[in-house]
Amino acid sequence: ADTYSHKVQRDPKFKKLDDADIEFFKGVLTDKGLITDADDLLFYNEDWMRKYRGQSQLVLKPKTTEQVSQILKYCNEQKLAVVPQGGNTGLVGGSNPIFDEIIISLSSMNKIRSFDSVSGILKLDAGVILETADQYLAEQGYIFPLDLGAKGSCHVGGNVACNAGGLRLLRYGSLHGSVLGLEAVLPDGSIYDSMHSLRKDNTGYDLKQLFIGSEGTLGIITGISILCPSRPQTQNVAFLAVSSYEAVQKVFVEARKELSEILSAFEFMDGTSLYLTGKHLKLDNPIESGEYPFYILIETSGSNKEHDDEKLENFLAGAMEAELVDDGIIAQDESQIQSLWSWRESIPEGVTATGGVYKYDVSIPLPELYSLVEACNERLQEAGIVSLEDESKPVVAAVGYGHIGDGNLHLNVSVRKYSSEVESLLEPFVYEWIQSRKGSISAEHGLGFQKKNYIGYSKSPVEINMIKEIKNHYDPNGIMNPYKYV
Ligand code: FAD
Ligand code: MLT
Ligand code: ZN
Repeated sequence: ADTYSHKVQRDPKFKKLDDADIEFFKGVLTDKGLITDADDLLFYNEDWMRKYRGQSQLVLKPKTTEQVSQILKYCNEQKLAVVPQGGNTGLVGGSNPIFDEIIISLSSMNKIRSFDSVSGILKLDAGVILETADQYLAEQGYIFPLDLGAKGSCHVGGNVACNAGGLRLLRYGSLHGSVLGLEAVLPDGSIYDSMHSLRKDNTGYDLKQLFIGSEGTLGIITGISILCPSRPQTQNVAFLAVSSYEAVQKVFVEARKELSEILSAFEFMDGTSLYLTGKHLKLDNPIESGEYPFYILIETSGSNKEHDDEKLENFLAGAMEAELVDDGIIAQDESQIQSLWSWRESIPEGVTATGGVYKYDVSIPLPELYSLVEACNERLQEAGIVSLEDESKPVVAAVGYGHIGDGNLHLNVSVRKYSSEVESLLEPFVYEWIQSRKGSISAEHGLGFQKKNYIGYSKSPVEINMIKEIKNHYDPNGIMNPYKYV
């Protein structure tokens, strides 16, 4: 990983950690709530892609909201910069320090607070792991309205802080709709609490929305109240091979029409991303008849198996007859459902396993979505630096996958190692390309460190100014996750 600290200057207004600070934190958390050992710090300093690495000397692990409040108040008074951290699975370099910022990890705040089985409202600490929350809900017949490949490590607080989208946004909508209330600590130590969770409450600004997607720049989220749907009683997964991006779009239109209310996910991936994933997983392509340029994963969720089976089979028969789909399989049991999903969910690992990855998470109108991958491959080929097999080339391939149902493409440039030569070929090229199509340079992963200089490609000067004013109002000393976002 690169420290990336050469790209910015450490802000001298921030104090450097000293023994008196450590003593204060020990007084709040006892010795057990502090990590200072160099080896143990590495996990917290480095990101999931091993692209960004900070140099923090201290991780704090509060167990209560009151402790978070005491810590932040002290840091604010002392001008000690901090980075809130959940499961550290973020993909934009937002969860790691750039210099010596103190990391405040929420991993010891991991209790389910309450669940109301009539309304489906779950209240929980920010540090609960997403999969743990979902398993708890499964026992009650409910489902967490967000699912994503990092579920085994990411925290619900981290999900809310990034406004993660994931695999079923198509069905359950964004966290801006399902989160009913939050508890968050502001830099001055005051505690914002809207955990009462009313579905309807039009008394003033909806302040919780400010924290959803704020990426740790305004305060630390400590509690979440979220509306959870009933768990589907029956699910199907189909994995399809198609021969063009045109066909991917047509299948999507048909799926929405034919599968309608039972469609719960529509994901796509190109042949190269599946190839790299198969290589990494050491598994053969799930479609036995050969390799295809594009694959689609369709999930249905409903309450009547026969009804859903019939609908899916009819839909697939129609799509094959219309020659939109070349080949496909329908999972026959729960383990096949898991296995097909794991192909899709393992792509981020598969495309990183080559050595590294440059990630671009974009929204563009659907017809042009995949052209970005083609434009990137052309550019890399012109520069003579890309090859799937030739180890002497720095770039393996530019691949595309993502949430077609949400108009969200993940362009990933899989590399053998990170290099400024490759990076400068891709940036700002990719951002300019997106701007010219009026797309978004960050559909779901956020801005973090990676995109803080590029926000202007998606937001107007007026919007950027409003964001800066809000930030300066709540965090006048700028201690919350500095060098990121704007
Ligand atoms: P972290 O990485 O620890 O933090 C992310 C950001 O939130 C940082 O800026 C951090 O400072 C801030 N933060 C964390 N916790 C708090 C808190 N309690 N209060 C205030 N700020 C906080 N994202 C998607 O949107 N959709 C996907 O489908 C998806 N799939 C993924 C698959 C994989 C394999 C991986 C590695 C990542 C994926 N992501 C996806 C990216 C990422 O957004 C999510 O993994 C997750 O939402 C991050 O949660 P986390 O707890 O790991 O947060
Ligand atoms: C996904 O959809 O798999 C995630 O957003 C992670 C990624 O983009 O790699
Ligand atoms: Zn995604």
